[in-house]
Amino acid sequence: MRILMVCLGNICRSPLAHGILREKSNGGIEVDSAGTSSWHAGEPPDPRTIAVAKKRGVRLSDLRARPFEPADFDRFDKIFVMDRNNLEDVLAMARNEDDRAKVDLLLNQLSPGSDAEVPDPYFGGDRGFEEVFELVEKACDSILKNHKYA
Ligand code: 4NP
Repeated sequence: MRILMVCLGNICRSPLAHGILREKSNGGIEVDSAGTSSWHAGEPPDPRTIAVAKKRGVRLSDLRARPFEPADFDRFDKIFVMDRNNLEDVLAMARNEDDRAKVDLLLNQLSPGSDAEVPDPYFGGDRGFEEVFELVEKACDSILKNHKYA
């Protein structure tokens, strides 16, 4: 099982999802993350992202942002996006129905059919990062349960 987490900048939401699932799956799932933009390519996660994860024992400091690319459809079995803008941007790069079928909103793992979004904490305060961590962690628990790796 290979899972790619995608957000806009690849420095806040998707690195959290990447690090949390990597930690919880204990090597059972190959996890990566990417952004629909290349604005922060090569950068580590936002310091607020690293701090909120560190507080809960999840290490993210080795991660570096990179842009999503069409070859990711070949490399991954599932591509989880954080919000509907990400969904639209990734689907616009899909080459066929197989590609499209791999893509879904992350929170549909937690609440199937809800089409709920992980809010973007980038322009908010630290509180936003705490909330995002908890939401993403619940979604990762659901992935593990849904795929029977837990
Ligand atoms: P992310 O958050 O998509 O969760 O990584 C953002 C990071 C950077 C920007 C926007 C959102 N930005 O505008 O640079």
